[in-house]
Amino acid sequence: MLSVVVLISGSGSNLLALLEAADNPLYPVRVLAVGSDNPALGLEHAEAFGVPTFVVEPGRFQTREEFANVLLENIDFFEPDLVVLAGFMKMLPPSFVDAFRSRLINLHPSLLPLFPGTHAIRDVLAAGANLTGSTIHLVDAGMDTGPVISQRELAIPAGVSEVELTEMVKVLEHAHLVDVVREISEGTINMKGFI
Ligand code: GRF
Repeated sequence: MLSVVVLISGSGSNLLALLEAADNPLYPVRVLAVGSDNPALGLEHAEAFGVPTFVVEPGRFQTREEFANVLLENIDFFEPDLVVLAGFMKMLPPSFVDAFRSRLINLHPSLLPLFPGTHAIRDVLAAGANLTGSTIHLVDAGMDTGPVISQRELAIPAGVSEVELTEMVKVLEHAHLVDVVREISEGTINMKGFI
């Protein structure tokens, strides 16, 4: 059984997919807690599943390092095997990344290294790409730059809007995240092989 803490910043639809999967006793993953950098809507999903939540707001700290240290202490309290950034929109300093070496993954809505950053879907469409997808990667101190663990592709239909493509990618991401976290639990994916 793999124990996980999930960090979010927004609607938490990927978190919900993981919580629903983990509700099945045959799924070898347990969500211990959900954290956020703001009182995010998605925290309600955790509460609905009886999973504890915590909020650490960067605005309450002088530096990014202080914020990250308190975030780290909150996560460490639960002693998770894995930390999943599922739409967590704050950059984390090297001190945080190092503390979770090979235990920290991020979900990104493009085929990295293509289209990193916070407007990936918009950028994919602006570039006129006809293929995109979902990436799950180990987190390093850069923006969406850590070693890629797994990718899934999606053909972009002609004339699709940003809202429509965002939804299509999210559907792909939900299944992708649930599958990859299971594979990490089962050892099919060996995280140490990526560092
Ligand atoms: C996802 O597209 C994820 O790839 C990106 O942020 C989005 C979060 O969506 N990093 P949600 O909050 O899980 O709905």
